[in-house]
Amino acid sequence: MDSELQELQESALAEIRESRNRIDIENLRVRFLGKAGAISLLSENMRNVPKEDRPRIGKQLNELRNSVARELDKRLAALETAAEAEALVGIDETLPGTPFRVGSMHPLTLLQDRAVRILRRLGFALADGPDVETEWYCFDALNTPANHPARNDSDTFYLPDGRLLRTHTSSVQIRTMIATRPPVRVIGPGAAYRRDEIDSTHLSQFNQLEGLYVDRKVSVADLKGTLEYFVRELLGPEVETRLRPHFFPFTEPSFEVDIRLAGINNGAWMELLGCGMVNPPVFESVNERRGDQAYDPENWTGFAFGMGLERLAMVLYGLPDIRLLIENDQRFLAQFVQ
Ligand code: DAH
Repeated sequence: MDSELQELQESALAEIRESRNRIDIENLRVRFLGKAGAISLLSENMRNVPKEDRPRIGKQLNELRNSVARELDKRLAALETAAEAEALVGIDETLPGTPFRVGSMHPLTLLQDRAVRILRRLGFALADGPDVETEWYCFDALNTPANHPARNDSDTFYLPDGRLLRTHTSSVQIRTMIATRPPVRVIGPGAAYRRDEIDSTHLSQFNQLEGLYVDRKVSVADLKGTLEYFVRELLGPEVETRLRPHFFPFTEPSFEVDIRLAGINNGAWMELLGCGMVNPPVFESVNERRGDQAYDPENWTGFAFGMGLERLAMVLYGLPDIRLLIENDQRFLAQFVQ
């Protein structure tokens, strides 16, 4: 037995030394250490070893098993190091690597997400509607008469079938009220389209964020409180706001909200959004289409607001030209990696 152990040790070490790769090593591991391997077979022969020799032989078998395993690991590590070194021959690993570009959100997406997150905290849920609208959803239901300038061919993209690309997201207000009973509290971010000449401050497709709040006894104070909170959360506690009377057909009274903040628009007041109290004729149009009195203006009041995201982005980020937002110039976009 002693000599068998000795022989096995020598042949194992010799074969390990001669192995050339991982496959050789794994084959040897099976041959020597596997369940039916050489060392296991020897262990089974312990039965034939005289009792007094068993502890000694047992110990030697263990040592043999351990040393073969150790040598296999050592040889494998050495082979792998050698393979790596060989792979690197002729390569200068001190050269800089290939640049790895990290993608980023578009600045408008970042801004929209921020605005949506603030309004969701106030209980507004997301709503949407189609970009291709009927005149009724875009204008008539919003109390915008047939002779209103927004309805001119020269201001709006009409499709041959009479539908149009929505000129504002206010149509989402109508779609929401037709689909759900009050109270409602929704925001609708999305694209709007106008036949504007494209220049440094105009695009023919841009993005708006619409809001609608209908409940019992909603007042101008609710409108003002909500929008002031929104603006402060968006731009910081130092921002000043003012409500300026304005006209929109779908709200009465109507306002524009201006903001003033050091470092923005050279510290001058700047228009941020349009808003107002939902005009009762809008509720009447919705009721008529619904065929009920769900939005009875005697019981329900509400406010609405809408803002353009590109304009806000331009002021916030100090952009000299609105077209930067659609050109996809990596040098511009990479500045917004978060
Ligand atoms: N739809 C208006 C626009 O595109 C913005 C607006 C003003 C939306 C007042 C409203 C609102 O919901 O109440 O200029």
